Amino acid sequence: MQFLLFDDYVIHAVQNQDTQVLERCNRRDIEAWVMAPSVPLILERLSATGKADETRQALGRFLSAVTLLPVTGEELKSGLKAEAPAFSHALALEMAARYKLKGIVTTQPAAFPKSDVPVITPDQLDEIIARETQPDQPVPLLNILATYPQIMEGAEAAMLSVVRSGHYILGPQVEQLEQEMASYCGVQHAIGVSSGTDALLLALMTADIGEGDEVITTPFTFFATAGSIARTGAKPVFVDIEPDSFNLDPQRIAAAITPKTRAIMPVHLYGQCAGMDAINAIAEQHKLLVFEDAAQASGATCKGRQAGSMGDFGCLSFFPTKNLGGFGDGGMVTVRDPALYEKCKVLRVHGSAPKYYHKLIGGNFRIDALQAAVLRAKLPFLDTWLGFRRGNAQRYTNLFTEAGLANVIGLPPEVVAGHTFNQYVIRVKDGKRDALRAALAEKKVMTEIYYPVPLHLQECFRNLGHKQGDFPISEQAADEVLALPAANEVTATQQQRVVSVIRDFFK
Ligand SMILES: Cc1ncc(COP(=O)(O)O)c(C=O)c1O
Repeated sequence: MQFLLFDDYVIHAVQNQDTQVLERCNRRDIEAWVMAPSVPLILERLSATGKADETRQALGRFLSAVTLLPVTGEELKSGLKAEAPAFSHALALEMAARYKLKGIVTTQPAAFPKSDVPVITPDQLDEIIARETQPDQPVPLLNILATYPQIMEGAEAAMLSVVRSGHYILGPQVEQLEQEMASYCGVQHAIGVSSGTDALLLALMTADIGEGDEVITTPFTFFATAGSIARTGAKPVFVDIEPDSFNLDPQRIAAAITPKTRAIMPVHLYGQCAGMDAINAIAEQHKLLVFEDAAQASGATCKGRQAGSMGDFGCLSFFPTKNLGGFGDGGMVTVRDPALYEKCKVLRVHGSAPKYYHKLIGGNFRIDALQAAVLRAKLPFLDTWLGFRRGNAQRYTNLFTEAGLANVIGLPPEVVAGHTFNQYVIRVKDGKRDALRAALAEKKVMTEIYYPVPLHLQECFRNLGHKQGDFPISEQAADEVLALPAANEVTATQQQRVVSVIRDFFK
């Protein structure tokens, strides 16, 4: 719940050392915003009544728990046009409406003109919080904007500096993101690209995978994994998954290797690394390349190594719902071999090297400088956010166990330590998954099925000649999996609610 704290309330809270709202913010009950242009005015008014240094420090402490809402020139002009007696009131109403804030908190609601935006007192704020945390509130699967207040100041400043620099394609922001991600992942080389899908395609193209080649992968993944292999002209060769981790089963890989096999593409599904030691050992034995599809697993680890650092190539996605998500599409290729790194960079720009001379046919696979700037602002928060996800996963496991459901539904075990729980996925057996999903939806708990049809049964892969029953573990997973709300902003109260609906369903 997001509220705008109006100037008079900020002054009142700082003067009276009223820490109630700050405590609410720290507990994540609410997110509070203060209009940035109000700050000098608030400081002036506070300074008139107290010692300048102390006042400044007290205001600084207060503002550290809230987000400053920048106001653009266009918003200021629009506020001027509004018919409110005082400009600051008009601007507050304008900003709250524009950003769909839940209301404005003020000590003097009567000073505001009539409006659709709720204007409330601090006491009314408490009432709203009490009401909103009642058990019948919707539980979304995730809320992309939930972390926005945390990163807003950094991300907006970074975007603005790109916009004002005029450097929109590649350039310093992209290079710095590449260095920072390479260092985060513990790899030598990283290349920013247009999406996770393009990361896969570009990595395969860099290794000259194409017509006549086979790449072993899992049928239980997002389409882009096998789709990218097929787009190069190579054949995706499916191998079934492990039932516990949902990841490619290393034990089954050897049987699928033929003279045409060039590579293995494991997927770190739901944010948990595949069994990379075993996969790398098979690859080494058969002289195969390894492409990690780490789209769902930025920040995941396997024995201290980061996802994306264990194969010949690692492919990350910055799609907004991913562990590290941008404000649009984006991705990254990590490459071990320095020569392949150089080739990958050339293929990212149509194979052009030097400019307008093409020895290779590449594509436009560039990440936007704006996305790079945003991702750089978000990267320092990644490990904290992953900590929240892991905490939520552990809480679900405890709650399900306490509710006596640990053996009724399948809980996701951490097969490889370092799971990031990009998704917290349970198994619902005996054909009850869809009914449980409907029961949760009726109680406004949102869930998702990742993925309802394994790739060997997709129409577009009919030419591969597969049929129902070819990969039974993947098929069973597709019938049983259900992702629950577990993103880092999901609260303990919401999780308790999810578990209680599931408990009632199985009563
Ligand atoms: C396993 C997997 N691979 C690849 C991708 C493709 O990433 P993007 O959406 O950034 O193209 C995704 C995205 O959902 C994914 O989950």
